[in-house]
Amino acid sequence: MNILGISAFYHESACCLMQEGRLTAAAAEERFTRVKHDARLPVHAFRFCLEAGGLGLPDLDAVAYYERPAKKLARQLWAGPPEGDAELAWLDPRQPERMIRERLGYDGPLLFFDHHRSHAASAFFFSGFADAALLTFDGVGEWATTAYGRADGGTLDLFEEVHFPHSLGLLYATLTAYLGFRVNNGEYKVMGLAPYGTPRYVDQVRALVHNGPAGQYTLAMAYFDFVRGRGMFTPALCDLFGAPPRSPGGPLDAFHCDVARSLQQVVEEMMLGKVRYLAGRVDSENLCLAGGVALNAVAIGRIAREGPFARLFVPPAPGDAGGCLGAAALAHTQLTGLRPPTAPLPDAFLGPRYATEDVATWLAATGLPAHNFRNKEAGLLEAVVDRLVQGQVVGWFHGAMEFGPRALGARSLLANPMDPGVRDRLNRLVKQREGFRPFAPSVLAAHAGDHFYLDHAAPFMLETCRVTSPLALPAITHIDGSARPQTVDPARQPRFAALLEAFYRRTGCPLLLNTSFNVRGEPIVCTPADALGCLARAGFEALVLEDFLIERASLPAGWEALVEAPPLPARSPFARPRSALEENLYTFV
Ligand SMILES: [Fe+2]
Repeated sequence: MNILGISAFYHESACCLMQEGRLTAAAAEERFTRVKHDARLPVHAFRFCLEAGGLGLPDLDAVAYYERPAKKLARQLWAGPPEGDAELAWLDPRQPERMIRERLGYDGPLLFFDHHRSHAASAFFFSGFADAALLTFDGVGEWATTAYGRADGGTLDLFEEVHFPHSLGLLYATLTAYLGFRVNNGEYKVMGLAPYGTPRYVDQVRALVHNGPAGQYTLAMAYFDFVRGRGMFTPALCDLFGAPPRSPGGPLDAFHCDVARSLQQVVEEMMLGKVRYLAGRVDSENLCLAGGVALNAVAIGRIAREGPFARLFVPPAPGDAGGCLGAAALAHTQLTGLRPPTAPLPDAFLGPRYATEDVATWLAATGLPAHNFRNKEAGLLEAVVDRLVQGQVVGWFHGAMEFGPRALGARSLLANPMDPGVRDRLNRLVKQREGFRPFAPSVLAAHAGDHFYLDHAAPFMLETCRVTSPLALPAITHIDGSARPQTVDPARQPRFAALLEAFYRRTGCPLLLNTSFNVRGEPIVCTPADALGCLARAGFEALVLEDFLIERASLPAGWEALVEAPPLPARSPFARPRSALEENLYTFV
């Protein structure tokens, strides 16, 4: 039973392959096209999944799509009539099927599943739980923005939904826009900004969202303007906070920090309240959470610590890219009558991998000088540690690429977390991001409890917790004393764990700063060529490509100019209609 799952045409498109109920490949289209958050038909990810499974099109038993376009159309039309031909084409609910048939050449069974059902399944079927309570929060699916349910064996029952336009995701997105950050992109920044503020605008935020009975809540729509997609908020929202919106790139002051903190507090309280409501409805010790709002790592940390459930599972890609996993699992269950095996998703390393022989051949063809550590892993690790303790930033490329937004030790930039200057250096040389945003650590699982207030594995880096380390860790500790650690299990990631061990032996510190391997505005690197291009364009010092170490200083002069810049976003006949407001628009149509 070979099932290919697809998420597409909304935020970030992706494909996955499920074979005999086991997930064998998954990747987001952006990693191949190098267009961040690429939402087009995932042609490259589709091809990758087939190749990874050794399959041809006739070998597929079904393609599973992560939402129901016709149902979504009803909501889109409710929001208002289409404006112009481009929007009319965009609203065509037959487009996804037509594109899958015509451009991917697939003519077999095509199954559609509700958006929030796909989200819920993307958590439950990979959680390892036999039963669970289900909760999804996002911007919007077809109509639902929040869903509550229970799962038992192969049965998923979503028994309550909150409907558009009432949406915690859209509340967060609206204030993200008001604070001058890009919707669907800047929500992390608002979360990172929050600890710098005080919650003095909690009453104003509470005026925007009213808690309702059971799982319900409503937005006070007089403050929001996203229904027709002309913008996110009305002038009434500015009046409520007593200040105009921050212009993108403008100065950030205490007011913005205070609004961010107030928003974060209200959203955390709302989510915790709804988790408690769900616990009263579902007799299970396990909670599965998904949807874009589940990327709010601070709220997830609170739910893990303060919530009523004994165990919590959030999948590595809780946002829309991960919806394809749930759709594939639902299709498997529907076609076989059996749920996928009850085993937790072992890791998120589901993307392309490059054999060290191929890297060797490719590097030889480039003529670039590289240290060869084939069959000398200890030497490689010591060479990396040498550089890290000197304050260098090292690109780390090993094994299959991660699925989901986090770098987990396959495509990572690594640095010494004890180095007080490394955060600014990383920002200056590579990430060029706002100084207030913290970097995350990876820690050997066996040592996690000695450095963080964390009593369970966190392999996907999706929750924050308090730093309790006796070490000073300025590079990974946020202003409120929190961090978002990844726990590293040597059985799952032997080489990355061995590197952490080597760093620990040398420094007494069993953790490293681990940030995604990309420069600002680009997706995380996928291929060795992407990684080398990143080394050439950014200012970090060394790159490990499987068994090879390349130093920036050894790149020949002018090499940088030979590295192709990433392509501009290509226009497609199925591109979303654009407007002058697009940077600030929640593009849910
Ligand atoms: Fe979603």
